[in-house]
Amino acid sequence: MSKPVAPRELRLGVNIDHVATIRNARGGIHPDPLRAAHAAVAAGADGITAHLREDRRHISDTDIARLKRELTRPLNLEMAATAEMLAIALKHVPNACCLVPERREERTTEGGLDVVRGGDLLARVVSELKGAGIRVSLFIEPEAKAIEASARLGADIVELHTGRYCELALDDDAAGIAREVERLARGARLASSAGLEVHAGHGLTYNTVAAVARMPEIVELNIGHFLIGEAIFGGLDAAVKHMAKLMREARAATDAASATATKEAKPSRRPQAASGTTKRARS
Ligand code: PXP
Repeated sequence: MSKPVAPRELRLGVNIDHVATIRNARGGIHPDPLRAAHAAVAAGADGITAHLREDRRHISDTDIARLKRELTRPLNLEMAATAEMLAIALKHVPNACCLVPERREERTTEGGLDVVRGGDLLARVVSELKGAGIRVSLFIEPEAKAIEASARLGADIVELHTGRYCELALDDDAAGIAREVERLARGARLASSAGLEVHAGHGLTYNTVAAVARMPEIVELNIGHFLIGEAIFGGLDAAVKHMAKLMREARAATDAASATATKEAKPSRRPQAASGTTKRARS
C-alpha cells in the first residue's frame, strides 16, 4: 500500500478571461472583468487567473494593470513564454505566472507546454520571472518527461492539463476517463515527489471537478469558461460557491480515506491477543 499523503488545502483560482470575451464582443467596458474578479473573491475564490494572449482577444493590458492594482487575492497571469510577455510580467509583478503554449489560430490552450524542447527562451523567462520574485508555473501534460524537465528548469509549480480528461467526460467514454484520471493522478504524485507544487485545470465543470479534487497532491484548480457560462444562469456568486463546495467535499473524502489508512497502518499498542483471535486489518 502506498503511504497516505497528509491532507492539504485545495484552492480555487477563478479565470475571468471570458468576461472580457463578452465585453470585447461589443467593445466598451461592460461586463468588467475586474468587477467579476471582485465578485468571485467575495464568493470564496482564493485567487484570480487571467490569460493575456498575444492577440488580446479577451484580457487586455489595461485589465492586467487594474487587476494587479486592485485585487485583494493573488493574481495568476497566464502567458506565452515570449519576450513581450516577459516584459509585461516584470512590469506588473503578479503573484504567479503560468507559462502556456499559444498559437494564434487555436480557440483555447490546446495541449501542454513543450518543456522538454522549450529551449533557451523558456529557460530565460523562467529564470527572470523567478528573479523578480514571481512564482513560476508551467502548464504541462501529466507526463514524466514534462514533469522532470519542469523541475530541471526550476519551476515552482506545474499545472496539469485536464483538457483531455474533460473531453472524454463530454463523450461519456468511461474507459478513457479512467485512463486519463489515472494519468493525472500519477502525474500529480510524480510532480509532488519532485518537489513541485501541483495545480490542475482546463475544461473543468461541476461534473468533472471531483475526480481531480480528490487527488491529494493537487493544491489549486484553475477554472474559467464553465463558471462564467454558469454565471449566465445563476450568477457568478452561486457558480463559484457551488464549485468550491464540490471541491471541498471531494477533498474531504480523500482526507477521510487518508486518515483511515494512517490509523490502520499504525501498529496497535495493545498486547497481542492469542494467535487466531486478533482482528485482521483490512488490506
Ligand atoms: N489553466 C490554464 C493554464 C488555462 O490556459 C486555462 C484556459 O485559459 C484554464 C486553466 C482554465 O480553463 P477553462 O476556462 O476551460 O476552465
